[in-house]
Amino acid sequence: MPRSLYGRAALILIVPVVTLQLGVSLVFIQRHFEDVTVQLTNGLILEFQLLQETADGANNQGEALIVVDKIATPLRLNASYSDSETIPSQNFRRFIDITGGTVIRSLTDGIPNIGPILLPNDHEVTVFLPTKWGDLNVSFARNRVSANNPHQLLVWTIGLGLFMVIIAFIFLRNQLRPIKRLSHAAEAFGKGHHLPYRPSGAYEVRSAGNAFLEMRARIERHIEQRTLMLSGVSHDLRSPLTRLKLALSMSDDPSANGMRKDVEDMQRLLDEFLTFARRDADSASDVESVNSSELIGNIVDGYATRGEPVLLHETIGEGTLQLRPTAIRRAIENLIDNALNYGSCAEISVVHRKKSVTISIEDSGAGIPESQRIEALKPFARLDPARNQNIATGVGLGLSIAADVARAHGGQLRLDTSERLGGLKADLILPIG
Ligand SMILES: Nc1ncnc2c1ncn2[C@@H]1O[C@H](COP(=O)(O)OP(=O)(O)OP(=O)(O)O)[C@@H](O)[C@H]1O
Ligand SMILES: [Mg+2]
Repeated sequence: MPRSLYGRAALILIVPVVTLQLGVSLVFIQRHFEDVTVQLTNGLILEFQLLQETADGANNQGEALIVVDKIATPLRLNASYSDSETIPSQNFRRFIDITGGTVIRSLTDGIPNIGPILLPNDHEVTVFLPTKWGDLNVSFARNRVSANNPHQLLVWTIGLGLFMVIIAFIFLRNQLRPIKRLSHAAEAFGKGHHLPYRPSGAYEVRSAGNAFLEMRARIERHIEQRTLMLSGVSHDLRSPLTRLKLALSMSDDPSANGMRKDVEDMQRLLDEFLTFARRDADSASDVESVNSSELIGNIVDGYATRGEPVLLHETIGEGTLQLRPTAIRRAIENLIDNALNYGSCAEISVVHRKKSVTISIEDSGAGIPESQRIEALKPFARLDPARNQNIATGVGLGLSIAADVARAHGGQLRLDTSERLGGLKADLILPIG
């Protein structure tokens, strides 16, 4: 079965038409032409029998020829006596002569002692009729025994059939185009692009298109509201926090130290909220051609200069990717931060395949059990607090942001267990091109 809707529809259209045509042609047309041939030949047999009787009634060969000729001419038959040596020994017909076999068969059935029957071409037939005075050579036009050009009907059916199939194809394509446009628009929206789209085509397609437009508008409204709210809250909380920080820095109360740290944490959380809220804005930023090894190298170097245990484990293949560098950088850094926070080190590998690049970040921590992986990818989700004892300040956005970035690039984030290090293995899979 073809995979595309177009291929399937074409198949549904062509198979019945071709089967019908072939069936009708083979069964009906063949039989019809045979019947016509048999009927015409039967008529001719009566004329041959008349010739034979007339010749047999004569007194010698010369007389026989005269009387036979008298009947033969108005019947448009050519009759003559030929030398017995020139008479061929068997019937002759060309291989491609479809009705020729029927002609020979019915003539032989009608006149059992008939001599050889010759069908050398489309225009002429010669038979040898035994008479008292020798074999009478009778020739006549081929169209007296079989219908003219039987293949013409076949050519017309096939030709017209092809013509209709081509027209149907064109109409079909026009009907399928709106579905294709809808699927393009929906696919692009899934990756975070807003393509111009106007519903068109058949009623069902148009209503699906309208439903898509409404859904898209609703989702966009939602995103906008969320962004506004998050950035509003973060922004409004900043000024009181700054004032608190200022006040704390002036106080010499010993308990102020702890409070100062809390205020700093809060500020960091607010920054993360703001980044989260702005993400949609920068997911619309420009796509650039980036060399994958260079990008990863930069990120790893950044951590290395800060003395963090992040290293490049292996790179297989090389290639240029079309991506939004800031977003991808944030996704990879989120994964590395997690590896450092929940494990003790981060090892990165980059594997290029024909259609995709996989960037894996592995650590030696406790990992995430399979049953909790879906939960961990949700925004603001933090797993079992006992696991997070050493770091109290996460928000639960890191993995969700990374997954969103991957999706916006047409790829995906997959969580797995690292076979080498025993902790979590996060695979960021990005399509090429
Ligand atoms: N490498 C890892 N090893 C073990 N558990 C992990 C790892 N990465 C994430 N997790 C678990 O998944 C949860 C969600 O991770 P996520 O990065 O989304 O949030 P976070 O690290 O808690 O906060 P944020 O990254 O926003 O500061 C974490 O709270 C942690 O329990
Ligand atoms: Mg994190």
